[in-house]
This record gives sequence, structure tokens and C-alpha cells, in this order.
Amino acid sequence: MLLENKYAIVTGATRGIGRQIALTLAKNGADLIVTGTNDKLLQQLAEEIQSLGQKCFVNIGNIADPAAAKALAVNVEKNFPQIDILVNNAGINMRKPTLDMLDDEWQKIIDVNLNGTFYTCKAILPYMVKQEHGVIVNVSSSTAKTPHRNATPAYGASKAGINYLTQHLALEMAKYNIRVNAVCPGPIETDMSKQWTTEYRKKLLERIPLKKLGQPADVANMVLFLASDMAVFITGESININGGIYMN
Ligand code: NAI
Repeated sequence: MLLENKYAIVTGATRGIGRQIALTLAKNGADLIVTGTNDKLLQQLAEEIQSLGQKCFVNIGNIADPAAAKALAVNVEKNFPQIDILVNNAGINMRKPTLDMLDDEWQKIIDVNLNGTFYTCKAILPYMVKQEHGVIVNVSSSTAKTPHRNATPAYGASKAGINYLTQHLALEMAKYNIRVNAVCPGPIETDMSKQWTTEYRKKLLERIPLKKLGQPADVANMVLFLASDMAVFITGESININGGIYMN
């Protein structure tokens, strides 16, 4: 139980990687607030987490709306005595080349992925500063470090922004004993990856040295490690989880 008596938030927890992160943190002793836009799926997850013996509260809201981050902070204050861990996982992707992309589409991806992460950090950090400890883990992407032919440039730009924000916050918040790291998953099997064609999937596997796609648990286990005291000397990192498809 690496996270006994810890209180955590996981954004975008209705499915995929976020759901797995929430369950992994709960199995390791954390009480949770899970956020997203689908009330029914979040309530199901909350019941699953409660059956593990942990507290779990649901927070509905659009991460791209700064008011939602403020509502999340109110939820924290109402239900938890402190907040130890924030996992910024909510994100969207799109497959469109630059010249086909509408300005609105660019804006939406930046709003959800980058601005949403910033709003949530800004709303929750004051509690961590006051209590003089905390851990933030941002879910970025390997696309933040190397361009991906099939992704939209907005996705990579938003995730590269998250990696910079991670380093900046790590530097600024270190004096309050707050660690900030990011994980950069490569191809992981989730609803997001269901957009891939069979041909694309085949070509992808050929490029991955470990010859397999990642699973949500592969990401969740790294988030658990970074959120725990096993990682007390790690901050400002953006850690690859990608089967070797991109190394740096
Ligand atoms: P998914 O599409 O299955 O889940 C995304 C989650 O974010 C959902 O819970 C969704 O409700 C939530 N979300 C989306 N827009 C939101 C909004 N405006 N407000 C609140 N919640 C919102 O995606 P998946 O694959 O689980 O991805 C999770 C994270 O991992 C994302 O940040 C994604 O960019 C990142 N990632 C995923 C990879 C993959 O291959 N699946 C690879 C690299 C990074």
C-alpha cells in the first residue's frame, strides 16, 4: 500500500488510462476525487473504488472551463482534509493534417489538454503550497517529444506545452516540497486507439522495439511510482512509457 492515508484527484477518469490510474491509486490506499464529463461512468467507477474500501467522490465538469477547476477545489475542501496527489490525465486527440485543421479544432485541443491542465494545477496548488507538500503527475505523450505523422499538430503542441509546464512548476514549487512530473505514453490500447486502422496498427507494431502496444496499467504503474514516496528525489521529469518507439 504505497499511498495509505493519501488523498488524490484523477482527471478524465471515466475510461481508458485515467480509469486505470484511479483504480491503481485506490488499490494502493488513496482516497479519490475522480473527474470527467460522464456522470454515469464516474458513478460506476466511484462504486468500484468504494468496494475496495476507499472513499471516492465524483466531480463533473469540462476541464477546459476555468470555473470547473474552481468547483473541483471546492469539492476538495468539502471532502478531504488535505490533497496529496493531482493526476492531470484528461485529454483529447484528433487525426488531421495541418492544412485541414480548422482554427476552432486547434483551439479546442489546446483548451482541453494544455489550458485544462494549467487551470487544474492553478486551482489545486494553493492547497499543496499551504500544507507544504504535494505531487502532480501530468499525462503527456511521446508526441510531445517527437512529431507523429497521424496526430494533429495541436495535440503534440499541447503535450509539449504540458512538458514545459511540468518543468516550470517543478522548479517554482520545489521550495514547498511539491514534486511535478509528467509521463509520456507511446501507443496505449484505449478508446482513443480504437481510431487506428488495422494497417496503421500493423505498421506501428513493426516500429515498436518491444513489439507490443502498451496497456493502461503500464501508464498507471508509473503514475503510482511517481505519486509515491519511492520517487521523492524525482521532479521535473517527463518519463517515456513507449516500448522503445522513441528514446531520449
Ligand atoms: P480516452 O479518450 O479513453 O479518455 C480520455 C478521458 O479524458 C475521458 O475520461 C474523457 O471523458 C476525459 N475528457 C476528455 N475531454 C474532457 C473535458 N473537456 N473535460 C473533462 N474530461 C475530459 O483517452 P486515453 O487514451 O485514456 O487517454 C488519456 C490520456 O492519455 C490523454 O491525456 C491522452 O492524450 C494521453 N495519451 C494517450 C495515449 C494512447 O495511446 N491512448 C498515448 C499518449 C498519451
